Amino acid sequence: MKSLSLDEAKCLLEKCKNSGRQVDMTRGRPSKEQLEIGMRMLESAGELDYTYAGGDARNYGDLKGVPAARELFADLFGVGKENVVVLDGSSLSIMYRLVANAMDFGIMGEKPWREQGRVKFLCPAPGYDRHFAICEEFGIEMMTVPMLADGPDMDVIERLVQSDASVKGIWCVPKYSNPTGIIFSDSTVECFASLKPAAKDFRIFWDNAYIVHSLTGEQHHLANIFDEAKKCGNDDLIYEFTSTSKITFAGSGIAALAASEKNIADFLSHLQFEMINPNKVNQVMHAAYLKNTDNIARIMGEHAALLRPKFELVDRRLFEAFGRDCPDVKWTMPLGGYFISLDVRGVAARVGELTKCAGVKFTKVGATYPYGKDPHNSNIRIAPSIPTLEELDFAMDALIAAITIALAE
Ligand SMILES: Cc1ncc(COP(=O)(O)O)c(C=O)c1O
Repeated sequence: MKSLSLDEAKCLLEKCKNSGRQVDMTRGRPSKEQLEIGMRMLESAGELDYTYAGGDARNYGDLKGVPAARELFADLFGVGKENVVVLDGSSLSIMYRLVANAMDFGIMGEKPWREQGRVKFLCPAPGYDRHFAICEEFGIEMMTVPMLADGPDMDVIERLVQSDASVKGIWCVPKYSNPTGIIFSDSTVECFASLKPAAKDFRIFWDNAYIVHSLTGEQHHLANIFDEAKKCGNDDLIYEFTSTSKITFAGSGIAALAASEKNIADFLSHLQFEMINPNKVNQVMHAAYLKNTDNIARIMGEHAALLRPKFELVDRRLFEAFGRDCPDVKWTMPLGGYFISLDVRGVAARVGELTKCAGVKFTKVGATYPYGKDPHNSNIRIAPSIPTLEELDFAMDALIAAITIALAE
């Protein structure tokens, strides 16, 4: 361990500032090298057959997406093809649309949420800021639920969901969670699948954004929530999402929803007025390039080879500066996903200020909590994917110096 004295930390931060360098680690975006991997898809695009039994991807039709893409996501999710709709580049926009539909039209014949008075969502935190932003946009009250080592606190969730009919939803990132990196345990998934909500129109927003995003090459287990829910006749409870944003191109990939047939029919009953079909040409390209789950795992291995050294650098630098037993500085070393979650007890806002002055930007401090309010002022989300290793080393100089100064203050 090589911890810095206060003077050394001040000196190092000043050096970072004077260098005039800028490193932006605000979002979990794939690096340029990762995006190059997906270029193979475009290279073969001209030779593909865009027709398929019963359709032509270049023409109108197939609101649910092309069969090959739906089959691919059905395999990934472990559900039937009839349970999958494949749309365009963003899973977030499917989530937004489902919330908007619930607000305006209600879910499966229930009253629209906006006619039901105050409606609430449970938000395990630290969590994904854009989930919280959707709630804020619609005026949905957010209730923070603590995140534990194997998923959100299920005692709190069971109590609130089962006793309060104004609780309409919960956000979950069950695999390599954003930002903590945890994977929900089997018992957590079983507990979600067997919830008995007071509200008939309660839904679990199961955002499996990092479904295949292992950093180690190993495929880590997450129980299939639909299998568990079917055992207790509860499969209407779940909307599951993912996309290829971090498999092919961010925002220009394809995204999917998995849900019970009743939920899918409800969703399509509104979608049919919004579009004739999604971008099916892109779906054919993706299905031909990605092929099957084994091939996707191979592609993700290429991403992991680029990402892993960056995660290891952050972990090594933090370890050298603070060791593993420092009560004020703790961080996660995830098995997959895009983030390292750092907790610096009581000084996160100050650390954010100091690093910003030194040219290094992290996700806005507080953003990992509903309403941007971290009750402990402790969480910083590190997104190491974009910078080069050299830039990351510089960013860690600034971060370590800032933490040392903020704790001393
Ligand atoms: C948990 C989570 N969900 C969704 C998204 C966005 O996904 P998409 O590009 O499919 O909208 C992200 C992006 O960082 C994410 O971390």
